[in-house]
Order: sequence, then structure tokens, then C-alpha cells
Amino acid sequence: MKVNVLRQETPLHEPYWESFRYDGPMDNTVAGLLDYINFHDDIINDQGERTTRIGWECSCIQGICGACAMLVNDKPSLACEAFLRDIEEPEITLKPLSRFPTVHDLVVDRSSIHESLMDNNVYIGEYSPAENTDVWQDYAVAKCIKCGLCLEVCPKYTDGRRFYGAPFANDCYLVAARNREKTGEIAEIYEEHFQRECAYDLACDKVCPVGIKITASMKMLNALTRAAGENESSDCPGI
Ligand code: FES
Repeated sequence: MKVNVLRQETPLHEPYWESFRYDGPMDNTVAGLLDYINFHDDIINDQGERTTRIGWECSCIQGICGACAMLVNDKPSLACEAFLRDIEEPEITLKPLSRFPTVHDLVVDRSSIHESLMDNNVYIGEYSPAENTDVWQDYAVAKCIKCGLCLEVCPKYTDGRRFYGAPFANDCYLVAARNREKTGEIAEIYEEHFQRECAYDLACDKVCPVGIKITASMKMLNALTRAAGENESSDCPGI
């Protein structure tokens, strides 16, 4: 199987394509494939030339850290959950996520996701038990791994400076549900950095690897902030 990788030595270098030949087992994942190619003293590309190891990130290899997020044949995927047997094309193309700065090869800098939360104090702080919220949605939202796949498919997300996207909205809901004293503050920043600009495309709902339903978070957050009299204009077309 031919594997095409969009490589980039550093953020200052130009990206370029390099191809490899994979002759390992087909019940492997893309993460396993990358390990297989990298696991040699000499890394040889499909031109027979010696090259460097392919840069990519992983930690858990079980879909819970989000580090291995990348584009597999242009589909935003977790490399450790993308099985070769499910890929119908004869070749595999691997690219870094496009909405984040590339650090090296398939490694991107997703710190903008965390910065949006830190800059706006979206943290639970003093914990109080949730009232009148859906405990299963709370649990689902808490599973967000900040992998960035939802931002990759979002038509509105660009550089994370103004519109923060689904991970931010989910965490806003979680904080508002768990700390009612923050509901007013959360309503304001949610409106400014998510609600006003969300296109309600909802592609984020479909791509989330842990199955978080952003629409459920939005509905519940609207209900919480309306109940607190903080969000009079929370109309969400299409939901
Ligand atoms: S390595 Fe953790 S999600 Fe893939």
C-alpha cells in the first residue's frame, strides 16, 4: 500500500509530499502503520532514498488523548482509531489538521483550544452539584478530548481568536451546569465567542470521536442562561 505523507520539517519550512511503501498487516490502524514505517534504523521512502522518521503525536493509542488527530484521506480522524481495512482507496494520504499551525509533519499546535478556555476563565472553580441538568450529557461533555476534529470541519472556525467552536461551547455548558454562580459570566462569553457566529452547520456533531452532541449542549446552555435571565436572544435555527 502506498502512503503519501505531507511533511514539513519546521513551521519555517515549506511542506512537501513524500511517499512510503507499507507492507505490514492490514488489520493495523494508521497509528500502527506510522509506527511500522518509523520502526527501522533506516527509514526508506518509496524512491529508495534514506529519509527521516515521520513526525506524529500519540499517547494513549485508544482514542482518549486526542494527540493523533490528523487528516486520513482528507477525513478528520484519530490515527489510532482509523483502521486500514476500512479505507477503501488503494492509497493512503496523511496530512496534518489544517486549522492549526503545523509544528512538524503531522504534529500541529492545538493550544488555541486550551487558550480560549483559560483566557475566559471557563473552569468549574467552586463545585456545586448540578440541578435540573442531564447527567448523561454532563458526562458526555466531560469526555471531550480537545482533539480538534470538530474545529477542522467547522465552516466558521479559522484561527481560534474570536470564534472558539464546539469545545468551548461544550465546556461553557459544563461550567454553567456545575457552577450556577458563573452562569451570567458564561452566558456573555458563550454569546460572544460561539453563539453569535455559529453557522449551525453541525458537522461537529458527526465527526466527534467520543460522540458528544454539541446540539444537546447548546440547548441545555440556552435553557440554563434563559432561566437565569441572561440570554434573551438565544435562538438556534435548525436545532
Ligand atoms: S493516541 Fe490518543 S487518541 Fe490516538
